[in-house]
Parts: sequence; structure tokens; C-alpha cells
Amino acid sequence: MAQMTISYGDLQDKGILVTGGGSGIGAALVEGFAAQGARVAFIDVAQEASRELVARLGPTSRHAPIFLNADLRHVNAIRTAVDEAAHQLGGLSVLVNNAGWDDRHAFEAVTEEYWDMSQSINLKQVFFVSQAAAPHLRQAPGGSIVNFSSIAYLLNMSEMPAYTTAKAGIVGLTKSLAGRLGPDNIRVNAILPGMIVTERQKQLWLADADIVAMISRQCLKRSLLAQDLIGPSLFLASSASAAITAQTLVVDGGVL
Ligand SMILES: NC(=O)c1ccc[n+]([C@@H]2O[C@H](COP(=O)([O-])OP(=O)(O)OC[C@H]3O[C@@H](n4cnc5c(N)ncnc54)[C@H](O)[C@@H]3O)[C@@H](O)[C@H]2O)c1
Repeated sequence: MAQMTISYGDLQDKGILVTGGGSGIGAALVEGFAAQGARVAFIDVAQEASRELVARLGPTSRHAPIFLNADLRHVNAIRTAVDEAAHQLGGLSVLVNNAGWDDRHAFEAVTEEYWDMSQSINLKQVFFVSQAAAPHLRQAPGGSIVNFSSIAYLLNMSEMPAYTTAKAGIVGLTKSLAGRLGPDNIRVNAILPGMIVTERQKQLWLADADIVAMISRQCLKRSLLAQDLIGPSLFLASSASAAITAQTLVVDGGVL
């Protein structure tokens, strides 16, 4: 359920593109932007979940979300999907680079192929989606790019070196793009979530003990959910943050 009490009037009717919006945090963001009356498109490979999301949100949204089926590992597919999103939305004001792949992998087991695969979904596509979106964002009165990094790269986590490298890279990319696109009035910021307990996380990685252990490290003594990322994303997308760029926003409940 989206946080319906938050209202950013300037987002109404704006064109928003969310990558990886078919499930998890991305799906919550699609719902959150749709609840603002925004025109939302999202790119994903998860066809069933994406179609279910559109079917669920369509009837109650001012603008039914638009699903674009594309594999972000391929630059040509990115360019086609981003242009299609801008066309169907009637323009693009906000890009949320949310898609990622937090697969666990042992340092010793990483092959060249695995490394390249991880970077292609966790880092490379963030650059190329942003590159493809920039000409469209320039035509908006003020554009915003919100990149999803992670606190994982700050915690010396040993079980996902390729992923954490990419997530650190996203912060560097955020600052570089903020410098490049700022003169065009396009802001670029990054969100660093902590442990966000989604269904996928519980199925694949998070035992109850892991959740308890992370809560014990947080100032806030509860699980963080995908919906906790809606408010920060809306804020960075909206004109409420019009002078904020090149920044990172940690959303982790205060991990010590
Ligand atoms: N869940 C967490 O605890 C957590 C913590 C820190 C950062 N993050 C970051 O937040 C973002 C969202 O996390 P999540 O847990 O919702 O992830 P998720 O894996 O549940 O969802 C990612 C979405 O991206 C899509 N996707 C994956 N590969 C794709 C590809 N090649 N082309 C198109 N779409 C593709 C998936 O289908 C999925 O819908 C990610 O960038 C993740 O790294 C998550």
C-alpha cells in the first residue's frame, strides 16, 4: 500500500520512468508515483508481475502505469525502451534508476562472465538509461534522476563484492552526472537503502535471524519495507528538493 498521505502536487501529470518497476521496491515506487497522479512507465523483464501491477493499479490511477518489457543488460534495448517511454508518457521529467540484481557470490567463485553480468545489470545500465533519458529530461522544465545505490558497500559485506562495487560506482556516477546535467537543470541524487524486507529478499536471502540482527543495529526497531522508499523518492523527484543535487540519502533506519 502506497503512502497516500504524502502529496507533491507538482508531480501530477509528470512523466516518470522507473526501471525495475515490476516487483519489489520498484513496484512500490510505481504505485507511489501513480498515487500522485503522475504518468508512470516502468521497464522490467518480469512480465507476469509487471502485468499484474498494471492490472491492479490501472483502474484506480489517474493515469494507468505503462509496462515496457526490456532487458536492461542490452544498450539497444535500453534506448528503444526509454524513447518509447518518453513517447507514451508525452515527455519525461523524472528517471528512477531502481533496477538491480543483489545476487550473493563468493569472492573465490566470481568468473569474468559473472563479473560482467553483475556490472551490466547493477551499474552499466544505470549509465546508459541515464544517457538515453537525458535528451528527454532536458525538455522538461526541471528534470530529476534518482539512482538506487545501497548501504551494502559501506558495511564491509563480504558476500557480494561485485554488487557492492557496482553500488559504490553508482554514487560516483551520480556525482559525475549531477555535474554534467546540472547546467541543464537536471538534478541527480542517489538513495542508499538499508535492509528492505521484500518478499524476494525473504525467499532468497533473509532468514528471521538476519532480520532480527539488522533491526538490532538500526535506531528504528522495525523492519524497513519497500513502501519506506516511496517518500524519499517522491521528495527527490519533486520540486520540493529543487536545490538538491549530487547528494546521497541514506534510508536505513539508522544503522549503527
Ligand atoms: N531490498 C533491499 O534490501 C535493498 C537494499 C539496498 C539497495 N537495494 C536496491 O534497491 C533496488 C531495488 O531492490 P529490490 O530489492 O526491489 O530488487 P528486486 O530484485 O526485488 O527487484 C529488481 C527489479 O528489477 C528487475 N530487473 C532485474 N534485472 C533486470 C533486467 N536485466 N532488465 C530489466 N529489469 C530487470 C527485476 O525483474 C525486478 O522487478 C535495487 O537497485 C537494489 O540494489 C535494495
